[in-house]
Amino acid sequence: MLIKSSDFVFSLILIFCSIAHQDGMAQRCSVADSVGNGKIISTITPFEKRSAYRFQVVFHVMFTNDDENISMIQILSQLEILNKIYDENVSSEDPNIPQEFRKLKASPNIHFCLADKDPNGQITNGVTRTKINDINIACKKFAGNKRYIMHTSLGGLDIWPPDQYINIYAINREQCNALGESVFPWDATMEDDGIIIDYRAIGFIGTAANNKPFHQGKTLVHEMGHYFGLKHLSGDHHNDCLGDDFVSDTPIQSDDYSGCPSNPQSSCGNKAMYMNYMCTVDDPCMLLFTKGQVDRMHSIIQQYRYELANHSCIDVPETSIDELFLIYNQGFYQIKNQDNKPWSGNCELIDTRGHLIWASASKQSISLSIPVFNINLHPGMYFLRISQNNSHKTFKFINFP
Ligand code: ARG
Ligand code: ZN
Ligand code: CA
Repeated sequence: MLIKSSDFVFSLILIFCSIAHQDGMAQRCSVADSVGNGKIISTITPFEKRSAYRFQVVFHVMFTNDDENISMIQILSQLEILNKIYDENVSSEDPNIPQEFRKLKASPNIHFCLADKDPNGQITNGVTRTKINDINIACKKFAGNKRYIMHTSLGGLDIWPPDQYINIYAINREQCNALGESVFPWDATMEDDGIIIDYRAIGFIGTAANNKPFHQGKTLVHEMGHYFGLKHLSGDHHNDCLGDDFVSDTPIQSDDYSGCPSNPQSSCGNKAMYMNYMCTVDDPCMLLFTKGQVDRMHSIIQQYRYELANHSCIDVPETSIDELFLIYNQGFYQIKNQDNKPWSGNCELIDTRGHLIWASASKQSISLSIPVFNINLHPGMYFLRISQNNSHKTFKFINFP
């Protein structure tokens, strides 16, 4: 019998894991192995780190038709991406990041939750929906920097107190020159603050699913960077090398790139970090924030957004995994509970041969999705094992052809 060495190592890890589980050491069991064809799967790690900052967000859906009135499930898919990138348990090494930049990747350690109380103290699901008449308000400004969309009197909707909520507007931005727009902290006022995103670039489900290459929820990751004071790597100097993003471990470059550049790219005599979230490449090609960018975000928060950090929906009780269920939604399998309450736990997707296909963790997130397309999930039967401390729950499901 021929045993492929990679399979052998893999089974050893699985064996070790099952022993560890039995001994109540599930938390120590970290599985970061390449599956058969050399694909790297995610790492399961204990929830040892507390997020440095927590913020509550409100989504204001501004629509003229049903298509633009995006679903809750699509908004949850955006929140999932946001937390995956901003509140990663560990900054695992990503083989897609060029070697010379890989070690610079850092987790911002910032967690986002959906607001559960509105400014009047009433219960909310963190989403407002407003039917508007004029889609042109999406990027229209009045007297300098008053944004129509952020003012009820101008045909939009007033922001919720910006020292308590991060206001995120979803609207059709086909009239605008960018998918997203954010107010820098030093430009923010009590009336104009927050982020505006095209309704087709929110999350990865619904109107985003077919909006390639902006279909992975990275637009908000980028705009949130601006919201916390990050600049494009070029410092918006596209003709000279004098631009500065005020971050020392990002290279000086005169281009923020687009599409999905091949490696390496050089600019201003440096290798360009075109795959940074603060460049302007396609969603699948945006891969990292650096340590320096995380430091800058944290100090900007201290300086400009500290009050906001004190108003979070932090007291939302976490649900136990008993209440979780697996739903299939427009091409994705999502693990969540009925009430959209946050939960924590590790998930392992195992095929009928007992091979680990994918693993991931929810850290106080509302939903966790199996990235069917990224992991190339073949038709067949699967087991999804969810673990929380010492309790486990397993779903069996068929991925139909
Ligand atoms: N161009 C916009 C900005 O500079 C957003 C770019 C988003 N890019 C993306 N791949 N989603 O703020
Ligand atoms: Zn930008
Ligand atoms: Ca720099």
